[in-house]
Amino acid sequence: MGRNEQMQRKDFDRLRYIIYEACGISLSKDKIPLVVNRISKRQRALGIKSQQEYLRIIEEEKDPEEFVKFIDAISTNTTYFYREKQHFELLTELFKKDSSKGREIKLWCAAASSGEEPYTLAMTACESLNLRRTPFRMLATDICTKVLDRAVMGRYTEKQVENIPKLLRQKYFDREATGKEKYFQATAQLRELILFKRLNLSKFPYPVRGPFDYIFCRNVMIYFDAPLREKVINAFYSLLRRGGYLFIGHSENLLGLQHSFKGVQASVFRKD
Ligand SMILES: C[S@@+](CC[C@H](N)C(=O)[O-])C[C@H]1O[C@@H](n2cnc3c(N)ncnc32)[C@H](O)[C@@H]1O
Repeated sequence: MGRNEQMQRKDFDRLRYIIYEACGISLSKDKIPLVVNRISKRQRALGIKSQQEYLRIIEEEKDPEEFVKFIDAISTNTTYFYREKQHFELLTELFKKDSSKGREIKLWCAAASSGEEPYTLAMTACESLNLRRTPFRMLATDICTKVLDRAVMGRYTEKQVENIPKLLRQKYFDREATGKEKYFQATAQLRELILFKRLNLSKFPYPVRGPFDYIFCRNVMIYFDAPLREKVINAFYSLLRRGGYLFIGHSENLLGLQHSFKGVQASVFRKD
């Protein structure tokens, strides 16, 4: 192995450590080239030639704004409307039962990305709760400011909204045409149900006020190691109301983690 290659490996380990400390993401070795490519864009934007120098700025947290941009650059934000749609079918049933409770229902969407998931949740609430008798409020958080800005706007291309059933799209999205491209923006009614905030799931205690009836945390814990996953789900447990539900991604599980949740079905858990 050449000297350069060895140096690179040292930097890669350093980069992995920085990312783990910053947001709890355990980066597998095969993702390193992708991440290096993403941060090289930040280097170029700042006119910094060497990767080592960029890493030093991040490590020393001398530039808080750059630190946020670094996290924005490394996060993977894939999402879409009605992703894992069985969850929304179950939620519809649960919301219908909530309608008799006559109190506000609170939901936390803890890895909201660009908003497709929280807006899907908001449409599900509007369709299945009587909002006048049972008000509904949602907190939607993510570590990445870039996607949160898009989520607050709630504006999507025709391609992005194609998973939304047509009737719901007509009811909950305003259509606008700019040049050749058509856009669909979530209605004010939908947007008003959601408060978007930046929150890092790897830093405790969480600055949120519970109790929540539902917590959705899907397709993010897959990037965390087991000790962090355990801390995260136990924090969720304390923030849920008794009888409240935790939804995780279909490809995720709580196997091997110490917790008091009761499994309801694959990827859905209840606090009894
Ligand atoms: C793959 S997306 C999943 C989005 C959505 N939950 C879904 O299932 O479609 C993962 C999201 O988790 C966010 N994320 C990564 N690490 C995080 C952390 N430590 N705290 C909060 N959000 C984080 C990313 O910015 C990204 O938007």
